[in-house]
Formats: sequence, structure tokens, C-alpha cells
Amino acid sequence: MNLLIMGLPGAGKGTQAAKIVEEFGLIHISTGDMFRAAMANQTEMGVLAKSYIDKGDLVPDEVTNGIVKERLSRDDINDNGFLLDGYPRTLEQAYALDDALKALGLTLDGVINIDVDPAALVERLSGRIINKKTGETFHRIFNPPVGDYDESDFYQREDDKPETVKRRLDVNIAQGEPILEHYRQIGIVYDIDGNKDISEVFLTIENVLSSLK
Ligand code: AP5
Ligand code: MG
Repeated sequence: MNLLIMGLPGAGKGTQAAKIVEEFGLIHISTGDMFRAAMANQTEMGVLAKSYIDKGDLVPDEVTNGIVKERLSRDDINDNGFLLDGYPRTLEQAYALDDALKALGLTLDGVINIDVDPAALVERLSGRIINKKTGETFHRIFNPPVGDYDESDFYQREDDKPETVKRRLDVNIAQGEPILEHYRQIGIVYDIDGNKDISEVFLTIENVLSSLK
């Protein structure tokens, strides 16, 4: 099964992606995670990506398309299927993905669109904490780590600062609809109500994906 997961910043793409790949054995490809790894390693691509990400802007299409195409061309994709998280984010990326999939002989089975009231997203992003060791994402109020936890075991993303969040939301709201329309035309979009709690959202997604398998 080859899938996309779409939704505004904070909609819960990463949270649901972790559950989906665990249950369905797919390869999770998150462009945001790839850029953050490159930033942490201070590679040339990471330094370039940082200059956009810190402002809440998108990394240029040619860079993003290149890393996704390279990842999709590895053998494990054909064997397991993939879940792309945070890509495509512009129509140009959607066209580049169409071409890359065609060249690799792969097809898309579904687009999971997590729909959340934008008013809720600032609170989700400002409360997000990530485990330094495991990379697992939590929320101080909505999904706190179990048991006693030490604040120093967690970090907050640099781009979750309120000013940057506003820019990220503006950029993504403007770009999102035409991409969804592109996939609606071929009838593979599944709209999911992402305003419910994490486990309820996952149940809905699980039902959709079980029917696609
Ligand atoms: P990326 O890392 O993809 O960030 P994003 O799209 O802004 O989305 P987030 O990761 O912030 O949100 P999410 O939907 O994964 O939410 P999460 O599950 O964590 O991209 C970062 C940057 O990289 C971009 O701004 C851009 O610069 C660059 N980039 C990446 N891809 C690119 C591309 N294709 N082209 C160009 N540039 C690109 O949940 C958020 C919080 O809410 C968590 O605390 C979670 O616990 C909580 N939560 C989740 N679900 C629920 C729920 N149902 N109820 C209550 N709380 C919930
Ligand atoms: Mg994410």
C-alpha cells in the first residue's frame, strides 16, 4: 500500500503516521524529519533547509523533490509500501511525485487528509514536546508522556515558536487545497475528521486503510 498523509502543521500527520506504519508495516517518509536530521548533522542540504524552515517557509521544490525521489527508489519501498508525510506540499511537488512514481513503476493507493479546525493548531504546536532519545512526539496536555517525566528528556521544535507557526499556517493553507484537488480528481482522497482525540482519529484511519488493503 502506497499512501500520502496530508494536513496543516499540527494536524497530527506525524502522530498518526507512527501508528499507521506500525500497524501496516509501511516505510514512513517524512520530509520534515529528513530535513531536521540533515540540520542536526549540519550537512550542506541541512544548512540550506534551515534558512527556510526557521522562517516557516518551504524548502525549494528542487531540493525536496530530489530527496524524496532518491528515497522512493530504494528497494525497501517496493517490498513494504510507503507513507509520505509532509510531501507533496506544492502542486509542482505533486507533479514531480507523479513523474517519480511513474518512472519507478509505483502507484498511489490513497491520500489521508486530516482535517482540523485551524484555530486548534497553535495550541497543538505550542504544547508539542519530543523525546530527545526516541524521537517520539507528545503533547503536554493532549498526549502527555506516561508516568513521571523529566522536562529535560524532551525538546520543542525551533519552528514551533508562535511567530513561525503563524507563517507556517499561512504558507500551508495557501498551498494545500490545489494539491488535494489534484488527487480528488482521481478519487483517492479520504477526508478524516482530525478534531477528535488521537485514538479516535486513528480508528477512522484504520477503517479506511483496512478497506484499501
Ligand atoms: P514538517 O515537519 O512536515 O511540519 P508540518 O507540516 O508543519 O507539520 P508538523 O510536523 O508540525 O505537524 P504534524 O501534522 O506532524 O503534527 P503532530 O503529529 O506532530 O515540516 C517542517 C518544515 O520543513 C516546513 O515548515 C518546511 O519548511 C519544511 N518542509 C517539510 N516538508 C516540505 C516539503 N514537502 N516542501 C518544502 N518544505 C518542506 O502533532 C502536533 C501536536 O499535536 C503534537 O504535540 C501531538 O501530540 C498533538 N496532537 C496530534 N493529534 C492530536 C489530536 N487528535 N488531538 C490533540 N492533540 C493532538
Ligand atoms: Mg510532523
